[in-house]
Amino acid sequence: MKLLFLKPRSRLSILLSIIVTGPLVIQPSMAQDTGDHTYSSEAILAGLGVYNRQCALCHGPNGSSIDGINLSQGVFRTVVTDDDLRAVIADGSAAGRMPSFLLSTDEMIGIVAYIRAGFDPEGIGASGIGDPARGKLLFEGKGECADCHRVNGVGPRTAPDLSNIGAIRSPTSLQRNIVDPATALLPINRPVRLVTRNEETILGRRLNEDSYSVQIIDSNEKLRSVRKSDLVTYEIGDAPSKQPTTLASDEVADVVAYLLTLRGLQ
Ligand code: HEC
Ligand code: HEC
Repeated sequence: MKLLFLKPRSRLSILLSIIVTGPLVIQPSMAQDTGDHTYSSEAILAGLGVYNRQCALCHGPNGSSIDGINLSQGVFRTVVTDDDLRAVIADGSAAGRMPSFLLSTDEMIGIVAYIRAGFDPEGIGASGIGDPARGKLLFEGKGECADCHRVNGVGPRTAPDLSNIGAIRSPTSLQRNIVDPATALLPINRPVRLVTRNEETILGRRLNEDSYSVQIIDSNEKLRSVRKSDLVTYEIGDAPSKQPTTLASDEVADVVAYLLTLRGLQ
């Protein structure tokens, strides 16, 4: 008896989600056509509410409760674009284990914004996720990122290797690193200036430190481990050697999209 009840209901929900998908898909892609990748903070906040009501139960507070999926870090099974994301939410997937949701247009925009902002409603307006192919060109060209950063074995070692950065940072933190590196600076990445007893001055980037030694990448890109007892000066800089980018916000969105594809060598 139960089965008989369930079947027509799930058909109805598929039908409804098809009806609902139409306008939802059209509207945001129109926004993309005008080159507007921005998700407003209102949308992100609205998405926080939708998430807590509809999604947190299964996906958990950080979006990482389901194996192989981490919604706050943009790790999905099949989803790549915002359109894919909307389709999965509206249609469900995996034979209904991911249910379909009937969301209003605003709720849908909100939940996508919330996920893309890395679950960070305080995120700096999260200019969203752009086009990864354009982002790669900007990374290697106009953005000058490749002048300092190494990706998949290519490039210098003076700045952190970004080959796996998409797997370990949220879109918002990536964006902050590009537009406001001073506030995004990880303590461990600080620039250092060391002077040894032999009067050698070493400039570099701190990789690691314990009570007795400090490991740095020096300005010649060499990994060095220096005993603290051999040092006469150990200065840790506050200001990163890195300037905020001059890229426009839609270009930053493209670079963020590219960085999110960097998930280590397969
Ligand atoms: C009843 C539990 C449940 C709820 C509620 C739920 N999900 Fe899921 N979701 C799942 C499961 C299970 C999967 C994994 C499906 C699979 O194995 O491919 C999933 C997968 C996903 C994926 C990845 C799909 C892919 O193929 O890349 C996204 C994105 C997603 N859910 C978003 C959401 C959002 C947003 C909400 C709230 C509107 C939500 N989910 C609510 C269970 C749920
Ligand atoms: C002048 C050299 C330089 C340039 C140019 C540069 N960066 Fe950086 N970047 C650094 C340094 C040094 C750090 C580590 C210190 C810090 O976090 O600020 C860093 C950190 C980062 C991080 C954080 C890494 C982590 O482990 O969390 C990201 C992401 C990043 N940069 C992306 C970019 C992108 C994208 C561009 C181009 C728009 C760029 N950088 C341009 C030097 C540079």
